[in-house]
Amino acid sequence: MLIGNPPVELPQPPLASGPLALREWSESDVRSLVEACADPLTSRYTSVPIPYTPEDARRFIAFGHSPTALPLAVVSADDSSQVLGAVGLHAVSLTRRRSEIGYWTAPWARGQGVAQTALELLSSWALEALGLERLDLYAEPENESSQRVAERAGYKRGALVRSGIALRGRRYDVVRYSLLA
Ligand SMILES: CC(C)(COP(=O)(O)OP(=O)(O)OC[C@H]1O[C@@H](n2cnc3c(N)ncnc32)[C@H](O)[C@@H]1OP(=O)(O)O)[C@@H](O)C(=O)NCCC(=O)NCCS
Repeated sequence: MLIGNPPVELPQPPLASGPLALREWSESDVRSLVEACADPLTSRYTSVPIPYTPEDARRFIAFGHSPTALPLAVVSADDSSQVLGAVGLHAVSLTRRRSEIGYWTAPWARGQGVAQTALELLSSWALEALGLERLDLYAEPENESSQRVAERAGYKRGALVRSGIALRGRRYDVVRYSLLA
């Protein structure tokens, strides 16, 4: 955390579109997080700990938003206790007006446009309300589903970044996608 800098502000009013809403993570989400993060695809393509324990979930929730990160739960607009996925900004630099963005969808909510809608909502808000000028997301070449989500949300495919991410002690090539203001 950068000492002295305020946390990234929360979207006000909260972001929502159709059946989806974005909100802060809460203590009541521990069980949903543990169930969603036990999924092999989420474990493979994101940096969640394996195995993902209730303690991991509590630590993640307690950390909340910071000067460089804004993690949000994607929930049902009708029932905000129903977690459908996650979307978040990380490596935010308000001075450089850029951020990275990431997402996963709980296995029980896939194939319904959850990731695309959540990505579109947070991306537009980050560019318009937060004043960022550039958003980057990184997807492994074999993660075709994630790349289609990025492209449908308006992100443009960029370079292959060799050994661009480190997950659990191993480096992986990633394709960089970007969205500009
Ligand atoms: C990649 C991932 C985020 C996609 O999440 P999702 O919510 O299922 O994504 P979407 O529903 O927006 O799009 C997925 C598919 O559903 C289809 N879809 C979209 N809206 C739909 C709807 N209303 N009804 C049925 N299908 C729909 C899309 O066409 C898409 O199909 P495709 O995979 O053939 O392109 C999800 O598989 C996941 O969590 N993977 C593990 C973590 C991960 O890879 N995170 C990204 C790291 S870069």
